[in-house]
Amino acid sequence: MMLSAADSIKPVARELEYAGYVIVPQFLDGDACAALAAECRTLHAAAQLRPAAIGRAQARHVREDIRGDRTHWVDPAALTPAQTRYWQRIQTLRIELNRVLLLGLDELEAHYALYPPGARYARHCDRFRDDDARVLSSVLYLNPDWREEDGGALRLYLGATSQNPHLDIYPYAGTLVLFLSTEFEHEVLPAMRERLGIAGWLRRRA
Ligand code: OGA
Ligand code: MN
Repeated sequence: MMLSAADSIKPVARELEYAGYVIVPQFLDGDACAALAAECRTLHAAAQLRPAAIGRAQARHVREDIRGDRTHWVDPAALTPAQTRYWQRIQTLRIELNRVLLLGLDELEAHYALYPPGARYARHCDRFRDDDARVLSSVLYLNPDWREEDGGALRLYLGATSQNPHLDIYPYAGTLVLFLSTEFEHEVLPAMRERLGIAGWLRRRA
């Protein structure tokens, strides 16, 4: 049976409500992921990816030992066909999550992220101390043929009540991970290969 986008998203809302995070394999099909990965590489080749900074406003600075990815913000006013497929899929999800969980999510911000081999992002929380607009964090991975030996897992710290201290999520093409931005510290472990993804945040209007 074919599930419509809206149908396949229903269990996502339930799982998110239950656990605070959810992993959605095949959130986007292989062709769309390949097109997004190609765009990310093209941006990189054209020097359009910038070293990611940490902190906000005056405290903003680059520390590659803490955060080694390179990013490029997606412009919602100039979406490419591949970005449109990503954007529409996340918007469908956003509307469904609002309907089922009353999360009041009104905005999406997203950037490509390229981690060169060996790059990491140390343990952190996605919500800034002085800004509570980010409610849900998401990452869509764009790496075909990824193997566990390649490393590069997203390590999600689950907190004291859970059986396992953390969960490692590998960046397989098409997999989306979603988690409540305030609830889960997480880190990106270094990989043997270049690691591509799109990180997106669903926000409440400030
Ligand atoms: C981030 C982040 C996780 C990942 O960009 O804030 O934690 O798996 N990314 O790329
Ligand atoms: Mn993060």
